[in-house]
Amino acid sequence: MVNLLSFEIEAFDNKQPTLLITGSNRNIGLEFVKQYSEKKWNVIATTRKPETSKELNDFAKNNPNVVVEKLDVTSNKDINALAEKYSDQAIDLLLSNAALTPRYKSGFKKISGVEEDITRQSFEINAIGPLKIIQAFMPNVEKSKNGKIIAMSSKASSFGERLKMPMMYSYAMSKAALNSMIYTLSFETKRKNILSVLISPGMVNTTPGMKIPGAIETEESVTKMVALIDSLTMDDNGKFIDYEDGRTIPW
Ligand SMILES: NC(=O)c1ccc[n+]([C@@H]2O[C@H](COP(=O)([O-])OP(=O)(O)OC[C@H]3O[C@@H](n4cnc5c(N)ncnc54)[C@H](OP(=O)(O)O)[C@@H]3O)[C@@H](O)[C@H]2O)c1
Repeated sequence: MVNLLSFEIEAFDNKQPTLLITGSNRNIGLEFVKQYSEKKWNVIATTRKPETSKELNDFAKNNPNVVVEKLDVTSNKDINALAEKYSDQAIDLLLSNAALTPRYKSGFKKISGVEEDITRQSFEINAIGPLKIIQAFMPNVEKSKNGKIIAMSSKASSFGERLKMPMMYSYAMSKAALNSMIYTLSFETKRKNILSVLISPGMVNTTPGMKIPGAIETEESVTKMVALIDSLTMDDNGKFIDYEDGRTIPW
């Protein structure tokens, strides 16, 4: 009988570094998969719905260093199954990318329009999800000589740099909680020589059928973030940094 589990992991070249990324079926997440695959990394490309992740599946078919895995960041069952499957795998870059992101117009509701359900889901996906992913895969990052934990945040959560207007309540609240978690984590990972960093990808055109004035394209944002991630040192541990030039964004 073919052992699918070991077959898939053997598809990796263990001389190359390994990325595990969440929410990688579209937009920024998918572009990260493409760029790290091109750099010959092993890529564990997770998505909550592998069966409908056509572009990701097609890319993985042509790139054996990419393995598509099911992972809903709110599902303990998914998280535990994946952590068990990869328990021996060193992870050099754990990239928390998945998020519940506001559609452009719905982001501009005033306090009276903020929905409790969406707010709860935003915390589940954008803050508690990354917490659980890091808990589950920290042993894998500890196996790396140069482990990095990167979470995608947003300037919407920065008191210093956000637009000074009522917008994106649920999203901004949940990303501020994410920032707090990663900042707290950085004191723990410092002792293990693991880097914990938040990155703002800039304003990126990822809303279907819409070009936001001033927004950049996904490829540009991800190209700059890949170079930035590569250049990070332990001096950057615990920082919230900008995709463009690595400058520190105020909380
Ligand atoms: N685009 C921007 O301008 C911008 C600005 C600042 C920050 N960011 C951050 O950058 C990251 C990527 O942004 P994006 O624009 O590419 O977002 P996006 O287009 O909304 O994609 C979000 C991704 O997260 C996945 N996801 C949602 N809920 C999930 C769950 N419970 N479990 C696993 N995956 C889940 C989605 O999967 P499905 O396809 O299954 O829904 C999708 O792959 C996010 O963290 C976002 O907050 C983006």
